[in-house]
Amino acid sequence: MTDPKIIVALDVSSTEAALAMAARLSPADCRLKVGKELFVSEGPGLVSALHDRGFGVFLDLKFHDIPNTVAQACSAAARLGVWMVNVHALGGRRMLEAAREAVDRSASRPKLIAVTVLTSLAAADLAEIGLHDSTPGDAAVRLAGLAQGAGLDGVVCSAQEAAAMRQRFGAGFQLVTPGIRPADASADDQARIMTPRAAIDAGSSYLVIGRPITQAADPGAALARIAAEIA
Ligand code: C5P
Repeated sequence: MTDPKIIVALDVSSTEAALAMAARLSPADCRLKVGKELFVSEGPGLVSALHDRGFGVFLDLKFHDIPNTVAQACSAAARLGVWMVNVHALGGRRMLEAAREAVDRSASRPKLIAVTVLTSLAAADLAEIGLHDSTPGDAAVRLAGLAQGAGLDGVVCSAQEAAAMRQRFGAGFQLVTPGIRPADASADDQARIMTPRAAIDAGSSYLVIGRPITQAADPGAALARIAAEIA
C-alpha cells in the first residue's frame, strides 16, 4: 500500500466539480482534502464517492466543541472511513483526549491531527482573545505539545515551522503542511511559502496543495511533477 505525501485541497463546492477534479488525479499520487464548503454543500455521499474512486480523504472540518460532541463527530468521521480528521487544539486537553479515544475505538482508525493557531491570527489577534503570553509561533508549539500529550497523531503547521516541530516532537509525529508552492508557481494569497522538496526536507509528513495542482492546465501532470520532485 503506497502512502502518497501529497494531499490535494478540493476547494470547490459541488460534487460535479469535485469528481471532475478527482478524475484527473491518481490515488497512487495523492489523497484529497474535503473542507467545510464542500462537506456542507454535498455531505457524506461525496466522501463515499471519492472513496469509491480509490482516494483516501482528509476530512478537514476542524472540530471544536465540548468533549462529548467532538468525540461523537470523530466517531462519525471514522464510520465514514476517512483517512484523516482534525480538531482544534484550543478545545483543550479533555476534548483532545475524548477525540483520540473515539478514533481509538473505531474499526478503521483515521489519523487524528490538531490545528494549533490559525495562520490568519497575528499576535494582536491572540492578545484580543486572551492569549497575551505568546507569539503565534510559541502558541503553536505549546498547542502541538498539548496535542501530542493527548495522544494525537500530529498537527497542521506551516512548513516554515516543520523543522522546529520535528526536532521537538520526534519522528513519529505527523506534520501536515499547507502553503506549498513549486518554484515556478504563483504564490496566490499565501504569504509564507515553501517548495515541495524543501518542505519534505524540513520534516513535513504530508503536503497540502491546492491551486498549483487544481488550477493547472493539466492537474494530473502537475501532481505527477510534484510527486516526482519529492520522491
Ligand atoms: O491553493 P492552496 O495550495 O493555497 O490551498 C491550500 C489549502 O490549505 C487550502 O484548502 C487552505 O484552506 C488550506 N490551509 C492553508 N493554510 C493553513 C491551513 C489550511 O492554506 N494554515
